[in-house]
Amino acid sequence: MTIKYLGHSGFLIETSGKTLLFDPMISSNPLAADIDVETLSPDYILLTHGHEDHVADAEQIAKSSNASLITNYEIYSWYQNKGLHGHPMNLGGKFQFDFGTVKYVQAVHSSMLPDGSYGGPSGGFVIWNEDICFYFAGDTALTMDMKLIPQTCPKLDFAILPIGDNFTMGHEDAVIAAEFIECDTIIACHFDTFGYIKIDKNKAIQHFSDKGKKLIIPEINHNIIL
Ligand code: NI
Ligand code: MN
Repeated sequence: MTIKYLGHSGFLIETSGKTLLFDPMISSNPLAADIDVETLSPDYILLTHGHEDHVADAEQIAKSSNASLITNYEIYSWYQNKGLHGHPMNLGGKFQFDFGTVKYVQAVHSSMLPDGSYGGPSGGFVIWNEDICFYFAGDTALTMDMKLIPQTCPKLDFAILPIGDNFTMGHEDAVIAAEFIECDTIIACHFDTFGYIKIDKNKAIQHFSDKGKKLIIPEINHNIIL
């Protein structure tokens, strides 16, 4: 498995011979200027919710790579009208894909597509196969529903959580989320991209470490070593 950070909430994860792209906002992010979206060529694009900072490059990449979308029913339907293909899900449901099982889980956040269309509920993904199990939270507040993840999914190897505050959890709540999901290795996202979410990264790392957890602050366009 490889995990590459693409900036903001974007990740490219290769597992079971398939390449999964999460929440791509790359070409409009000056911090990710080194990444050419045409080189990503994913097999699947997973979208947690409809906000522009999570879907900005989805259409272009899906069209050039012929990737399948995995997202909620409302977002899937919106993209289907643009000629994209894929697989609709809704909260609490899981489905077996050729790279593993995907469960679309609750997030506490809003959602709207770039043209103002209703984006359905916001969600996150828990994904597992024979090699790995991880949680991609998307944008969310800390929520008690996170406690359902260890009860309903295999043990997590790692989780990708937002820590930038203002629009999502900050690091103080994210460390409680790590406790709720019973996971000691957390990769941070949704920080530093724009003014409201600039954070003190050392403070966040220290806070996790004080609670016996590892917080990885990924570097854009680099592979992440767990
Ligand atoms: Ni959002
Ligand atoms: Mn966001």
